Amino acid sequence: MTKIALLGFGTVGQGLCEILKDKATYLKEKYGFDYEIVAVADFAFGNVYNPNGLDVDLMLKEAAAKQKFTKDVVDMDNVQLIKECNADLMCELTYTDLETGGPAIDHCKAALETGKHVVTSNKGPAALMFPELKKLADANGVKLMIEGTVVAGTPIINLTDGPLAGCEISKIRGILNGTTNYMLSEMEKGMAYDDVLKVAQDLGYAEADPTGDVEGFDARGKVTILANIVMDAGIKISDVSCEGITKITLDDIAKAKAENARWKLIGSVEKKDGKVIGSVAPEMVSMTHPLAGVMGATNALTFTTDLMGDVTIVGPGAGKIETGFSILTDILAIHRS
Ligand SMILES: NC(=O)c1ccc[n+]([C@@H]2O[C@H](COP(=O)([O-])OP(=O)(O)OC[C@H]3O[C@@H](n4cnc5c(N)ncnc54)[C@H](OP(=O)(O)O)[C@@H]3O)[C@@H](O)[C@H]2O)c1
Repeated sequence: MTKIALLGFGTVGQGLCEILKDKATYLKEKYGFDYEIVAVADFAFGNVYNPNGLDVDLMLKEAAAKQKFTKDVVDMDNVQLIKECNADLMCELTYTDLETGGPAIDHCKAALETGKHVVTSNKGPAALMFPELKKLADANGVKLMIEGTVVAGTPIINLTDGPLAGCEISKIRGILNGTTNYMLSEMEKGMAYDDVLKVAQDLGYAEADPTGDVEGFDARGKVTILANIVMDAGIKISDVSCEGITKITLDDIAKAKAENARWKLIGSVEKKDGKVIGSVAPEMVSMTHPLAGVMGATNALTFTTDLMGDVTIVGPGAGKIETGFSILTDILAIHRS
């Protein structure tokens, strides 16, 4: 029985709980996986703990009604709850802070120091502190899994570590941010940048403050994670050059079309002269390249390998169930190992 603690019960936390609930029988029969959610900490809903399993149905109902949790409420702060609960595994699903990492860093440290595996979709700890946290995980004999930090549940980190293990990867290039890919796709229909941004905000693709997406900062965090995890680059987020899509005009879109190409915000990691170079910038991609056909909020990455040539993977980069699945896949990997 895997006992799970959740830090953050927002979109991803609730998505994970729904998947676990809906697939409980399948997961037990197929993988022998059985679980209990024993602790949850969330700013909006409160902190709850029951060593024998929380009432997740009730919690999902309360969250849907935007009400505080009413059962098994405890007077413990996040770190105390993580340290003292009987979970084997902590999922860090609070907000991403790409400048300091925010409280997520303390959450991860508290879990690892007390011998709990960590699974996270939070880019902060992964982009800013992966080597230190991995060392802590190794020292405590537990795992630190981060599939959901890059392109939600579309397998990226686990692909390079699993099916592509043995191939040397010299370059990774791709569309790492769905919001900007949606905006560039819509601009091809003739809508100007400001108008497209408004539509993207109305549809919930872009946040009220869209800076993180349109300036390329979100993609830069993911590039840093790929550089450090896939290529052992040991680089900092500030080492990755970054330009967003704010300067792309309808004239640029027309120019690309005339050249049988299409603008994409490309995140790239490349080994050059023994160094690993990371960058984020808009690029005109030839229509013959697989990345050119990836439209809307979809993400895609091309891996250049020595044994397989180019391998491209296309899939969702966000979403409640899609990111919830990224957490499930890492939990299952821990269970199966
Ligand atoms: N949603 C996606 O499609 C997606 C995809 C890939 C990665 N991610 C990453 O996954 C993580 C979770 O995303 P999400 O979409 O679930 O976010 P979300 O819907 O905003 O949920 C986060 C929840 O965590 C709570 N929270 C924030 N800081 C906390 C803290 N220090 N202690 C306890 N609770 C805290 C929030 O409460 P308040 O609302 O009161 O602050 C909120 O209920 C983020 O790091 C995000 O970048 C998300």
